[in-house]
Amino acid sequence: MENTIVIFGASGDLTSRKLIPALYELKRKGRLPDGARIVGTSRTEFSHAAWRETLAQSTAEFVGQRFDRKVWDELAPSIFYQPGDMDSPESFPKLGDFLAELEAGRATTRVYYLSTAPRFYEAAARGLGAAGMAAETDGPRRIVIEKPFGTDLDSARALNRVVHETCAEHQVYRIDHYLGKETVSNILALRFANTIFEPVWNRNYIDHVQITAAESVTIGHRAGFYESAGVLRDMFQNHLLQLFTLTAMEAPARLDADAVRDEKVKVLRAVRPMRPEDVGRDTIRGQYRTYRDEPNVDPRSQTATFGAVKLSVDNWRWQGVPFYLRSLKASSCRTTQIVIQFRQPPHMMFESDARPFDANRLVLQIQPAEGIQIHFMTKVPDSGMKLRMTDLDFSFRDQYAGGMPEAYQRLLLDVLNGDASLFARSDEVELAWGIIDPIQRVWESSSAPPLAFYAEGDWGPAVSSQWMAGQGRAWFDLCPVLH
Ligand code: BG6
Repeated sequence: MENTIVIFGASGDLTSRKLIPALYELKRKGRLPDGARIVGTSRTEFSHAAWRETLAQSTAEFVGQRFDRKVWDELAPSIFYQPGDMDSPESFPKLGDFLAELEAGRATTRVYYLSTAPRFYEAAARGLGAAGMAAETDGPRRIVIEKPFGTDLDSARALNRVVHETCAEHQVYRIDHYLGKETVSNILALRFANTIFEPVWNRNYIDHVQITAAESVTIGHRAGFYESAGVLRDMFQNHLLQLFTLTAMEAPARLDADAVRDEKVKVLRAVRPMRPEDVGRDTIRGQYRTYRDEPNVDPRSQTATFGAVKLSVDNWRWQGVPFYLRSLKASSCRTTQIVIQFRQPPHMMFESDARPFDANRLVLQIQPAEGIQIHFMTKVPDSGMKLRMTDLDFSFRDQYAGGMPEAYQRLLLDVLNGDASLFARSDEVELAWGIIDPIQRVWESSSAPPLAFYAEGDWGPAVSSQWMAGQGRAWFDLCPVLH
């Protein structure tokens, strides 16, 4: 079977920064199927040669030292460009003819990657459908849809409906690039390929779970998108809820796309819906102090760049164990981490300097210091029975040579191979919006919790720490050291 990857939005940022570098890396590692074609399409006019040269330059910039001109010269002849406008229905049959000519009647897996502005997703699905380009008569046809998948539950449902008019669910690959990160897949390995963690992975041993995505970046020039998105739509509905489901789900019977996604869906269904009157108690919203000075940001903007949300999961495993999800921009520390905070021992006969909440902790460092730490008490030598918290520290970089591949390499390869495990299913996306929407609605209303400001470099507003302290807990705000 041959392969053609068609990239809509070919002149955009994602294509040059992520998709082409990922395809180049796959080629360099010998993992891109032989003869795979890459066809770009967007409104900009390029000849094949001009597009290849533009991509050679951007790829060299983004892959840095790993750029090898010889590898690129092997890849370049299989890169093509076909101008097209998604607003004009004739573009699709024209593209279809071009692809048919390239494929010359050979059975081919065709991947349509929508790397466009989200407002074009429906037009693309309709255009492909109307031109008969999604029919699987000459080989599999798959459509990859970038985030954001809708801006709320209604728009996500509407988009699913339009996409399903053209494609069956097995043809649809909704991207959440967090799922392509090695450390995110490793959550499943840690939980279900070991025997020592799963027996304690429940309400009997765990006090609470913290999932944090702290970013040092600010909004920069993304106000056009961010002002209407804010942290809940940008980070919670997708990335944080994905980390949450992998942490909280039951073990799937098999590692196949539907078995894994069925379990994720079950956890999302078990999340207690947030009532409007709960939002003030169970969420914190914040904004970094200089946000309103960013280009094109409303000087009175209410958009949250910090969010903390306490989720309750109504099932046997997690009853009474809160999951605290938190994300912020403009932190001094870039870290995505999951902290499993275990309970105190039932009876403490030792004296300890540790604060009451310093019980055992398992920290999964998702990025950038990819690793795992177990925090546990030890006896301080030569000082009576004094105890201190110490840790076992595992680092991927120390154990495995070669570094962490970019998420898009794995995801693109999985699409070509027809493995949808690391992509969001339609019900999963809708359930995730169903959790976020009630919070977002209150945050956008007159009964929103106060917007708390924080200085750039902080871990969020002071009220966030006070909120945790009020529940007898504390955020684990330790910036991991990069070795
Ligand atoms: C994107 C968000 O989906 O994820 C960005 O739109 C965010 O706002 C980014 O910065 C974070 O991704 P990563 O891989 O850098 O953690």
